[in-house]
Amino acid sequence: MNLSYISPKATVRESPIQGRGLFAVEAFGKDEIVAVKGGHVFDRRTLREVEPALGAAEIQIGEDLFIGPLAEGEREGSMIYSNHSCEPNIGVRGQIIFVAMRDIEAGEELTHDWAMTDDDTGRMECRCGARACRKTVTGQDWRRKELQEKYGHYMSWYLLEKIKQADG
Ligand SMILES: C[S@@+](CC[C@H](N)C(=O)[O-])C[C@H]1O[C@@H](n2cnc3c(N)ncnc32)[C@H](O)[C@@H]1O
Ligand SMILES: [Zn+2]
Repeated sequence: MNLSYISPKATVRESPIQGRGLFAVEAFGKDEIVAVKGGHVFDRRTLREVEPALGAAEIQIGEDLFIGPLAEGEREGSMIYSNHSCEPNIGVRGQIIFVAMRDIEAGEELTHDWAMTDDDTGRMECRCGARACRKTVTGQDWRRKELQEKYGHYMSWYLLEKIKQADG
C-alpha cells in the first residue's frame, strides 16, 4: 500500500548519488507538488526502536515527531526516495509536501537538502556531485544562515519556527 504520494510525473530508479533516487519523467513547473510523505506519526523513542531494521525511511516533522513506516512491509510504500543534494531542486512546504523550487526538466534527479527537514545528530559524507557540495552534511545544517537564506520558506515548518525563535 502506498502511504506516500509520488506524482505520476516522477519515478524511482537507480541514482548516481546513492541507491535509488526520485527522477522527473516529465517537466515540473516551479512550486508544483512532486511528492507527499506519508506514514505513521511517532516520536524519537519509537524511531530508535525501528531504525535498525528499517534504516533511513522517515522524515522529521516536529521537535519530537517523525513520519514514516513502522514495519518492513510498509517501508517501500512510505519511501519517496529523494536523495540529498547540496544543490537541490525540490523543497518542503509545511512538513510533508515536497515541491519543485524551480522549473525542472524531464530526466533530472529530484533532490532535497537535509537542512530543509532534519534536526538531529546525523552525519553523512555527501556524494551529490554538486560543484558547491558541502562534502560532509549534518543534521545541524539547518542552523547555517546561508542555507536558511538560500531556501527561505522551502524548509520544514518546525525548523522555520525554530529559526524564528532563535532570531528573537
Ligand atoms: C531516504 S534514503 C534515500 C533513498 C536511498 N538512495 C535508497 O535507495 O534507499 C536516504 C539515504 O540515501 C543515501 N543518500 C542520500 N543522499 C545522499 C548523498 N547526497 N550522498 C550519499 N548518500 C546519500 C544515504 O545512505 C541516506 O541514508
Ligand atoms: Zn553534496
